[in-house]
Amino acid sequence: MNAKIDVFPSRGFRLKPAQVPETVEEVLSPEERQTLIARIKRLLTEQDAKLVAHYYTAPDLQELADATGGYVSDSLDMARFGAECNASTLVVAGVRFMGETAKILNPEKRVLMPELDANCSLDLGCPADLFNAFCDQHLERTVVVYANTSAAVKARADWVVTSGIALDIVRHLAERGEKILWAPDRHLGAYIQRETGADMLLWEGACVVHEAFKAKGLRQLRAQHPDALVLVHPESPADVIAQADVVGSTTAIIQAARDLPAKTFIVATDNGIFHKMREAAPGKRFLEAPTGGRSATCVSCAHCPWMAMNGLRKLAHVLATGGNEILVDEATRMRAVTPIQRLLDFAKTRGKVVLGNNDA
Ligand code: 13P
Ligand code: SF4
Repeated sequence: MNAKIDVFPSRGFRLKPAQVPETVEEVLSPEERQTLIARIKRLLTEQDAKLVAHYYTAPDLQELADATGGYVSDSLDMARFGAECNASTLVVAGVRFMGETAKILNPEKRVLMPELDANCSLDLGCPADLFNAFCDQHLERTVVVYANTSAAVKARADWVVTSGIALDIVRHLAERGEKILWAPDRHLGAYIQRETGADMLLWEGACVVHEAFKAKGLRQLRAQHPDALVLVHPESPADVIAQADVVGSTTAIIQAARDLPAKTFIVATDNGIFHKMREAAPGKRFLEAPTGGRSATCVSCAHCPWMAMNGLRKLAHVLATGGNEILVDEATRMRAVTPIQRLLDFAKTRGKVVLGNNDA
């Protein structure tokens, strides 16, 4: 196979440590928590709103979404749910690109987020002006961008993909003989390249959470738990992926925990996922894959600092005030909707399983 991997030569756009916030969890007394939950339930009904939460958000948010007819899932199914539900307001508990995707697909709906600063290192590490310059240098390539990008970057793409469907889409494009320009996650891009043999030119971004998983520590933990299976999100480095029994999206990781016969799993993804994994596979044991610990090599330690910005107080506040509305200018939205719709249409043709609240 004549595969080619390359990275954009400039490193100027790489994230600076100061751009990554501390992970701070919301702390509530039991009384305040109960009061907020009751208030949010009432406000969701009054505002004709549905809560759509990612698996990495706090258990309280996931439980509220489940209990109120909202949705908890990966980024692909969050987008799909937003497009299919008929509430007039969507409240997206996750990170900014998820709120923007909901707005791009549902311009007539009001989209609110508990925290507008909840970003993503991949999105921050791929500014639209630099990305456009990169694309301009490679006009012969099909531009495939991961969902973890801004609306402006999606507006430049031919295809948007999520981890749940990236392999299928790139394989499909490679079979048509297309050369790919991939952004922003270099680990996911390199994984897809290895699996498909596609000709891919890679942007140099990375997720601060997944990049921190360590192959050496993982080998040691596996030696201590020889019966454990290893579940890895493909944003992780290649030497971590190489040790995986299952590589997949957050939904695929939960499904594997539920369906595989092992009793113990080592999990290389954000530890917020453990809440749904325990629900889906009660009685099984889940161990965090090792990171660099609280050292210079680990800025997030298996929990996304931006996902952690979502909490009950902020959720109640935006529902009560209508604040933190996501807006995407119409020209950008019109361009970005085409590659996202392509993703959703492709997912439909492949009969991709939708695993929502009740199936997990
Ligand atoms: P999923 O699409 O697998 O949920 O991944 C989103 C994400 O941000 C992973 O870090
Ligand atoms: Fe972005 Fe990584 Fe957080 Fe996912 S876990 S939202 S990829 S920073």
